[in-house]
Amino acid sequence: MKIVTIVGARPQFIKAAAVSRVLRQDVREVLVHTGQHYDDNMSQVFFDELEIPRPDYNLGIGSGGHGVQTGAMLAGIEEILLKEKPDRVLVYGDTNSTLAGTLAAAKLHIPVAHVEAGLRSFNRRMPEEINRVLTDHVADLLFCPSKTAVANLTAEGVHDGVHLVGDVMYEALMHAVTLAHQKSDVLERLNLTPSSYALATIHRAENTDDPERLARLMAALQEVSCKMPVIFPVHPRTRGKLGPLAAGGDLRLLDPQGYLDMVRLEAGASVILTDSGGIQKEAYWLRVPCVTLRDETEWVETVAQGWNVVAGADCDVILGAARQPVRPKTRDDAYRGEGSVMRLTAILAGNAGAGGGGE
Ligand code: UD1
Ligand code: UDP
Repeated sequence: MKIVTIVGARPQFIKAAAVSRVLRQDVREVLVHTGQHYDDNMSQVFFDELEIPRPDYNLGIGSGGHGVQTGAMLAGIEEILLKEKPDRVLVYGDTNSTLAGTLAAAKLHIPVAHVEAGLRSFNRRMPEEINRVLTDHVADLLFCPSKTAVANLTAEGVHDGVHLVGDVMYEALMHAVTLAHQKSDVLERLNLTPSSYALATIHRAENTDDPERLARLMAALQEVSCKMPVIFPVHPRTRGKLGPLAAGGDLRLLDPQGYLDMVRLEAGASVILTDSGGIQKEAYWLRVPCVTLRDETEWVETVAQGWNVVAGADCDVILGAARQPVRPKTRDDAYRGEGSVMRLTAILAGNAGAGGGGE
């Protein structure tokens, strides 16, 4: 059986690392990197640290508007699929690389498996929401991380091929936590002690493309940094959009971090402020309180269990949640992290081109 896997962006390298390690025991995997992320610290570092096999193809598409970028990927992936003739295409998450892989495969009648199916923000202004909805309505194997995700698909009439396998990112994280403790010296380099700093990331279009909103978020981070250092690895999308920082506080802008340093920073943080999907979950798994810098979240269980506060760009809410973070006594893993990779790969290996039944 041959599977073509499509990746292109940072979180997809991390998820694919966990799955490929197991999948390759049973399946011939052809790895395609679209080139959506291309800076060393957005791409190569993850391949090196997580020992992801070198991609069989790198399309080198790079950055661009949604149409230009997705269109170029679509053409490039189609060519590879015509040549490789796989039994199935595997896509992750909700990026333009996900959508391009899905469309290219579907038009060639190649079955599509979607990892992280069923997530919804119910905000159609998010490019990711469009990518997810379209992918879920074309895929024939839908791997859901949560019961909510399954329910979202049911509500849209998607029943066949839906499997609640859990979230493969958990095992990626656990693997990295072990490695990070052996290999990362980021806390020492930054002269930080655990539980004495906040960690922040911002990269969502809704935050970076609205100068007034971004300025409010930065003002909030600056305010938090008057109480404790705020470590802010800056996504390249955000870097060019930051205005001058006000004086005062201890807000430290860093380049994007490799995964091991990032995981060590997350594990040691007293609070994480982020608009990232992956980091909200990592905070939850690491039992670090999270403040989500968005108006909604797909990861509603983290909020329901009290580990995450959806603060939007409201300075008062952000400051309140960051200054007095809540650490609930319990945390049920709503994402059934343990064993997710095995559950998913077993279904994949047994379903080369078939639809697969619901679980
Ligand atoms: C993409 C995904 C988003 C995901 C994020 C993970 C889409 C629509 N968005 O957003 O869902 O959460 O990846 O990080 O697919 N850039 C560089 N170097 C790079 C990559 C990007 O400088 O290696 C800069 C470019 O200016 C580019 C901008 O970042 O225009 C945005 O990159 P892009 O891949 O289009 O979207 P992300 O914001 O990274
Ligand atoms: N990440 C990283 N270095 C960074 C920022 C993020 O390794 O400087 C990791 C993070 O730990 C998580 C993933 O990248 O595993 C999340 O990616 P991102 O926030 O870019 O995208 P999203 O999850 O929102 O799609």
